[in-house]
Amino acid sequence: MKKQILVSGGAGYIGSHVTVELINAGYDVIVADNMSNCDMTCYEGVKKITGKQDIPFVEMDFCDYGAVEKLFTDYKIDAVIHFAAFKAVGESVVKPIMYYKNNLLSFLNLLEAIQKYGACNVLFSSSATVYGETKDLPVTESTQRLPSTSPYGNTKQICEDILRDTVYAHPDIKGIALRYFNPIGAHPSALIGELPRGVPNNLVPYITQTAIGKRKCLNIFGNDYPTPDGTCLRDYIDVVDLAKAHVAAVTRMIEGRMKEDYEIFNVGTGCPISVLELVTTFEKVNNLSLNYQCVERRPGDVMAIWADTTLANQELGWKAERTIEETLKSAWQWEQYISQKENK
Ligand code: UFG
Repeated sequence: MKKQILVSGGAGYIGSHVTVELINAGYDVIVADNMSNCDMTCYEGVKKITGKQDIPFVEMDFCDYGAVEKLFTDYKIDAVIHFAAFKAVGESVVKPIMYYKNNLLSFLNLLEAIQKYGACNVLFSSSATVYGETKDLPVTESTQRLPSTSPYGNTKQICEDILRDTVYAHPDIKGIALRYFNPIGAHPSALIGELPRGVPNNLVPYITQTAIGKRKCLNIFGNDYPTPDGTCLRDYIDVVDLAKAHVAAVTRMIEGRMKEDYEIFNVGTGCPISVLELVTTFEKVNNLSLNYQCVERRPGDVMAIWADTTLANQELGWKAERTIEETLKSAWQWEQYISQKENK
């Protein structure tokens, strides 16, 4: 019997890529999503890519405990990958209560149901944001977490702690937190990718929307940082590589190969790239010219952060494989696909 994985937020950007890789690896997947930040595009894309038409899809909200319980009575679930959360840093500063309520309650409901319905493995989607403005670069999993600069980041720290404490109290629950660096790009089929609502906050969707003409000009936030070219440094991880890290982590849990009941892994490339380098690489690989200007620093941005990926490489047997060129090509192909679809 195939192992069944529940993917909360499975119709979203990262959730849909993870669903594809889980199915490719031989798992059955149940997708659950409240559709608050996506439409059916990626779910339909997943079915096309995998050729699997019968992927269970449950439209529900993890803040509704009854709906969460129903998942566990309807399905035998071996592991949960939890993505369902709000994720806009700036919005979280303006609407902290909404962020705390949604991101914490949904996770607590999930863990409460797991505790009631028995043994389960939990993979939590965390973020490099938990390291804050660290000077300790590259960051390892034991680099101290610094106080968060946003309610969003704080929810990631709190959820990590909730998972750790739950695992220690309940020996039949195992947990892994994956700390993502900057996920970018799209599936090589261009059938799934990032679908930001409104004006994108993140760099790559802003770049692709500028290239296609939806935005007039990309603002590069700050070119006076003490970095080689004055712009911020980040560790951009391809979304398909990131998805494969989830498969490796879930398999480690299911096969009982964990060294501790709660583990943390950085998921990045280990290679810092500047904003300007990313922009010029995008121009080069896609053979186009982007309208951009350098403007003031964006409040709250850390100057530089990138991962030490040794632990994930050794323990998960995983490493980032796609080149930044391939990734930026895929981001552009996805933007073209989605724009064509919108204009139909
Ligand atoms: N940037 C621009 N112009 C833009 C958008 C971004 O210059 O229009 C710059 C930012 O200043 C930053 C870099 O591009 O230097 C990356 O910015 P993103 O907004 O794409 O990503 P962040 O590194 O700010 O944040 C991301 C995720 C967060 C997560 C964080 C962890 O969006 O969810 O990484 O470090 F918390």
